[in-house]
Amino acid sequence: MSNLFPTYSRYDIKPVEGKGSYITDDKGDKYLDYVAGIAVLNLGHCPANVEAAVIDQVKTLWHMSNLFPSDVQDSVASQLTGAAHFTRVFFCNSGAEANEAAIKLARKFTGRSKFITFQDSFHGRTFATMSATGQDKIKKGFGEMLGTFLHIPYNQPEILKDYIDEDTAGVIVETVQGEGGIIPASEEFLKEIENLCRQTGAAFIVDDVQAGIGRTGKAFSFQHYDIKPDLLTLAKGLGNGLPVGALLGDERFIDAFGSGSHGSTFGGNYIAMAAANEVLHTIFQEDFLREVTEKGEYFRARLKEALKDSEQVVDIRGKGLLIGIEINIPIADMVKKVHAQKLLVLSAGTNVLRILPPLNTTYEELDEAVEKIRTAFASDTASISAE
Ligand SMILES: Cc1ncc(COP(=O)(O)O)c(C=O)c1O
Repeated sequence: MSNLFPTYSRYDIKPVEGKGSYITDDKGDKYLDYVAGIAVLNLGHCPANVEAAVIDQVKTLWHMSNLFPSDVQDSVASQLTGAAHFTRVFFCNSGAEANEAAIKLARKFTGRSKFITFQDSFHGRTFATMSATGQDKIKKGFGEMLGTFLHIPYNQPEILKDYIDEDTAGVIVETVQGEGGIIPASEEFLKEIENLCRQTGAAFIVDDVQAGIGRTGKAFSFQHYDIKPDLLTLAKGLGNGLPVGALLGDERFIDAFGSGSHGSTFGGNYIAMAAANEVLHTIFQEDFLREVTEKGEYFRARLKEALKDSEQVVDIRGKGLLIGIEINIPIADMVKKVHAQKLLVLSAGTNVLRILPPLNTTYEELDEAVEKIRTAFASDTASISAE
């Protein structure tokens, strides 16, 4: 019997080792891992350069309090701010903590407490970020939520003006809803949020926890659009498996986040920062990001070709290597069928197969994944016709 709380329903595959895009389980079976720790392992398992940086740091200095200066934090912060219009960074340990920091900062900066978020969004599991999340199933049984979050329909620019007003502290939006089902936002929608935030003084907050750090083929996913968010939250891919979260903002916010206003014991930990530093050196390169875009286009085109006769497929979509296949059959069964082909994928929303390859996956691996998915869908058809 396990002594763990059963907060996760786990797949029946126990990984014991990983290298690149593959893991091996305790039975010795090898799987192509296109879950990648849920958009965390953007450079795959145990990438040599990150491993070397982490080992070097482990031998030098593990941890100091944030009461002391840290060159490695400064280096990661400078890479993050160098990739966009931001100038300031706060480090924490997770996506929820990054959003929590954004919520606190927007409240303090504006002196307001109302937030607008979107139906089917996901922002985390702390009390504030759970309240921000637009999915009832996440909140079930936890009693009254924070009353300051209003969830409105996603991708509907025409209704925004009815909700964003002079009482709004911030609007939190994912440019691609990840957990909600791989749903990209329209340019018009995001631009209208930005407009209304500018008009009312609300903070325009992009949650890039899942779609950031190169996942969509840009350093940050909002860079696909002609917008400039006030605050940006990051985590997942930033540490390639070591826990790092970050909130990015600019000079306007320094008084609200002055000394003693917010903090985290582990935020910006040396080992996690050593990993993040190396991750960003690799990912924030034009050639690398272009390849993510090209691989994403190649993979989606190959999937569309392979599944064109499949009656179970409703849509194949995504940006870069954040990919969803919407289907019209039970999602859990389909995930299992893909796993049976030794390809790890997961679900998103109620009926989307979510595929998150490491960003440095090869074209051969993408081809291998297409064949495995084709076989899994064919096996589903075979089982339907045998019934
Ligand atoms: C968009 C988004 N925001 C926030 C989170 C929460 O991140 P974490 O699990 O690191 O707290 C997630 C996690 O899936 C996410 O996808």
